[in-house]
Amino acid sequence: MSETKKRLLTGLQPSGALHIGNYFGALKPFLDIYGEYDSSLMIVDYHALTSLKNPTELNRNILDVAKDYLAIGIDPSKATIFKQSDVPEHTELAWIFDCLVTVPFLMQGHAYKDKVAKGLEANAGLFTYPMLMAADILLYDTEIVPVGEDQRQHIEYTREAASKFNIAFGETFKEPKEQILKGVGVVPGIDGAKMSKSYGNVIPLFGSKDEITKAVMGIVTDSGGDRPENVYAIHALFKNEVELTALYEANKKNYKALKEALIADIEAVIAPMREKRDSLSDEEVKLVIKEGGERARTIASAKMVDVRKKVGVTL
Ligand code: TYM
Repeated sequence: MSETKKRLLTGLQPSGALHIGNYFGALKPFLDIYGEYDSSLMIVDYHALTSLKNPTELNRNILDVAKDYLAIGIDPSKATIFKQSDVPEHTELAWIFDCLVTVPFLMQGHAYKDKVAKGLEANAGLFTYPMLMAADILLYDTEIVPVGEDQRQHIEYTREAASKFNIAFGETFKEPKEQILKGVGVVPGIDGAKMSKSYGNVIPLFGSKDEITKAVMGIVTDSGGDRPENVYAIHALFKNEVELTALYEANKKNYKALKEALIADIEAVIAPMREKRDSLSDEEVKLVIKEGGERARTIASAKMVDVRKKVGVTL
């Protein structure tokens, strides 16, 4: 991490296999610009613990997500890849933020409200989740956070946490900005609703060709017009409008041919990344995570020295 470049940071939960919504909404936007910044890419394992209570699965998912990061082309010498739990300053700072924000403020959290509405357990971690995310971001004086639209409110909450702290204890944290790109902020799933692990409507990022074929063939196509809108919306992530217009004109009403074309276009992007992914060993990935964690911790622990002094716990 250098002193001069602006900081860019994002993170993904290892709560299951990543999907193309994660890729186009957050990972690709990060990949496209990370070389120009002092960049970090986190595996937010303690966030995943709010929903996943299976240690074997969580452990496997952590390694899988790290492999995904490397397979899409992130160079670990140019970005700090680390897992949240390796830097205990994240949970420490989250506690301090918890003491600054109010319960009614957190109760307005969309992510919390949505999960509770779906009948998920309302554990306290899920409730205070945005303050752990604020800590993830603010510990590193992050300026830009590439995310999908569903994280917009979390970044607003992060700015609020920074501002509350700065007012209470003096200027300490930079207020970050979200980077949400038009056209990919909400990638639709195979049913047309937002693609989400929890809705079961995903196209897996690193699925086998069979898994991708099954998902694409399952795209809901009850469109009344000539064009199957749900297929087109996903296809638009892989091909430009001019190419797509010609393809969809030539195959009006031929939904099967259009889905086959989409499968081929997804494969063309994913197959080389899948190959890279298959070549990675667990051991080399563990080393990347360990080294990244050490780098991140150096920054985070220096920041916490200042924070602890400011709140008054350092003697
Ligand atoms: P998570 O793990 O749910 O999702 C990871 C990233 O993928 C984006 N995303 C999408 N983008 C477009 N269309 C979709 N259908 C779609 N589905 C998911 C998400 O917006 C996100 O950017 N709270 C975060 C993780 C987090 C974090 C952070 C992110 C924790 N700390 C600090 C940035 C900075 C989350 O649950 O993402």
